[in-house]
Parts: sequence; structure tokens; C-alpha cells
Amino acid sequence: MNPSQVTVRPARNIRGTVEFPGDKSISHRYGMLAGIAEGPSRLENYSTGADCASTLNCMRALGVKWDRKSDGQNVIEVEGSGLSLSEPSGPLDCGNSGSTMRMLSGIVAGQGFTSEMIGDESLSRRPMQRIIQPLTSMGAQIDSHEGKPPLRITGASLKAIDYKMPVASAQVKSCLLFAGLFADGETRVEETLRTRDHGEVALRAFGVKLDRKSVGAGSEVRIRGGQHLRGVEVRIPGDISSAAFFLCAAALFPESQLTIPNLLMNPTRARLLDILMQMGLRISVTQLDEIHGELVGSLQVEGGALKGATISGADSAALIDEIPVLAAIAPYTQNGIEVRDAKELRVKESDRIAAVARNLRAMGAEVEELEDGLKIPGGQPLHGAEIDSLSDHRIAMAFAVAALRAEGETLIRGAESAAISYPAFFHVLEELTER
Ligand code: S3P
Repeated sequence: MNPSQVTVRPARNIRGTVEFPGDKSISHRYGMLAGIAEGPSRLENYSTGADCASTLNCMRALGVKWDRKSDGQNVIEVEGSGLSLSEPSGPLDCGNSGSTMRMLSGIVAGQGFTSEMIGDESLSRRPMQRIIQPLTSMGAQIDSHEGKPPLRITGASLKAIDYKMPVASAQVKSCLLFAGLFADGETRVEETLRTRDHGEVALRAFGVKLDRKSVGAGSEVRIRGGQHLRGVEVRIPGDISSAAFFLCAAALFPESQLTIPNLLMNPTRARLLDILMQMGLRISVTQLDEIHGELVGSLQVEGGALKGATISGADSAALIDEIPVLAAIAPYTQNGIEVRDAKELRVKESDRIAAVARNLRAMGAEVEELEDGLKIPGGQPLHGAEIDSLSDHRIAMAFAVAALRAEGETLIRGAESAAISYPAFFHVLEELTER
């Protein structure tokens, strides 16, 4: 358990070897699909984050049996229930996890009972219309609080739809593909910008057939209903969005050296590596393998220059979870960082555009806040400050990284929120930091 506030002191360097717990996006999907598969699954290196525990707890409430093996490998063994789950005796508590609520909606929409899905204060503010509308067209009945949680979903025999998503969202895409498993006919989901494809890759790993093709800058996926999933034995690659904090920390110091084995390198997630290399970080991939359709690699990282970057269009969708930490180190870059087309950041666990602007200003930076992004000039030294993370894990971790090159100490409030995706974050940061 992390304390509710953590003091971060300036560093001289980042050095060492770090392997990350399993990717959060993949862990959610494997946790859900293992639950509706036939037969046992073994998920090694399952995410240690509280969000992925919320997914497993919801699956248990839906009658799925699973166990956590206490051998230090974060192994989850799941006994699949098949496509028919059991009616929960109380609300499904999704905690802080938008992924749990949105993706699991697609599964409960195909069940013969009503489920209530609830979340914490932050999740209760997040938009759900993006799944309510298409799931309703498939035949589910959904009540919400003006398009926000709690959701009350009455499942039905679903019918397939042909759906072009108005927002670039991998959660919505996975939700509809999962619902498509329960639908009569072929469901087609189109995205105009490519988002992470772990739902598609995971479905295939569990034996589901689907067709995928590129359409312009996006893609289309077709899935036939009624297919059965079979359990899998998998090892989940390290979370690249958790690694992002350490890669950005390494980028702050020219003498940094990091070794990262078993990191997720899926091309829909690895754009951060290109951007950091363009900015001057030296990254080499020393090994690359494929496990159940996901690319996993080992990285050798060395500090270098820290030029600026512009992130817009398809890059903003591809880097959506990494923008807070890139923005937090922007003042230290030579030419600054400009972020556009990232309006989705306003409806994450917090309004991340406002949170970054406010906390960078607290550290003495000049920042321009835009409706869909930020303009942060480079060459600005920062000073230590009190950071309000708004209980948003990525804001807490992003500013712990910015604090490493600031003058004086920084107090991160709401530091316990790091546990949502990476409970060991502050401990590992301390271990890798040279002072
Ligand atoms: C996720 C997709 C992204 C991301 C979130 C996890 C996923 O959200 O921000 O942290 O696992 O599919 P959207 O799909 O809403 O953009």
C-alpha cells in the first residue's frame, strides 16, 4: 500500500534493470475472456494493478471461479464458465476502472439476466453513452444516470450490428467485439483511427475467428456470434504504459541506462518508443518474440539529447495514456511539446489536460491549455511544489517523474492512486534513481 503522499527529491540519474508487471489492457481482456472460455486458463504475470483486480472480482461475482497463485509470479488460474455466466447477487463494482465497465458491458449484455455496474466517484463521472448506444442497437436494455454510471444492463439475445465508432476507443471496440460473440450474425466494427488491438489479438488467442483489415488510417473487424472460446496458458508481456514513466525519467538525464526485459511491443502501443527516440533517447531492442499474437521485446535504453515533439492526429490516439508524462517532462526539453487532437484526455480518470496544466504551473512552468491539448515551451527549469494528482494514477506518476529534475523537493498528494495500474511504482522509482 502506498502512502497518500510521497516526497520526491531531485535525481542525478536513472540506472538499472526493471521488468514490469503484465500489461493492464491485456490483463483485463484475458481476465474476461478466460471467464467465458471453456476449460481452465493460466494467466502468468497478470497486472498487479487494482483496476485488473476489479475485473477479476466482477468475473467472480458473475460465477467465474479463479485463484491467485502465491508464487510471486502473479499467476491467475481461471476455471472458465463458458458463454453463460451466473446472475450476480449484488452490483458489479468496477472501482476506478473504465476498461472493466465498458468492456464487461459487452459480455453482460448477452446474458439472460440484469446486471448493475457501479464505480467510484471518478468512474461515475465518465461517459458511457459510447457503449450504451451501440449495445442498445444490438438489443440490450440499458439504464444509466444521464449517460454515466451506474449502469443497469438487462441482457438479451443480441443481434449483430454494423458500427462505425464515432470516438477512437479501444474499450468500445473490444466491448462490441465481445458482445458480437453473443449476437446472431456477423458484427462489424469500424474505427477511423487505429486504436490498440488487444481485444482482437486476445480473441484469436482464445480460438475465436475474426476478420481484420485496414481501412484508411483505421481498421474494420468482423466477428461471427456463437463461437466458443477455449482456455489458454499465457504469459502477459510487461506494461508499456507503466514503463513510459521510467523511459521518460531516463530521458531526463544524458547518463541514464535502463534495461527492460519482456516489454509489450505491440505496434499499436509502441509509438512512445519512436517519439522518445526522435527526442534523443537511445533505445535498442535486444530481443523480440511473439506470444499469442502479442510482440514482446527486451530494451536497452541510454539517455541522450532531449529535443521537443509535436503529438497530434493518429499519434494522440496511439499515445493517449502516455501524453501526461510526456507533457510533464516537456519544460525540460529543448523545443517544448505541443499536444493536439487529444480531447479524450478530458474524460479520463481526471481531466488530464487541466491536471497537467495546473501542476506544471505549480512547478513554475509556463503552459498554454487548449481545448484539445497543451502547448508547453521547452527550456524551462522547474521547482519542487505540491502536486495534486486528483487521485489519478497517471498524474501522480507523471509528476513524480517531473520532480526528478526540479530544484527542491516535490510533494505528490494522492500518491496511493499509483496502485490503480502499478502499485510498486514509487518503490521501483526509488530503486532506479541515483542521487
Ligand atoms: C484502454 C484504452 C484507452 C486507454 C485506457 C485503456 C484499453 O481508452 O486510455 O487506459 O485497454 O482499451 P479508450 O479506449 O477509451 O481510448
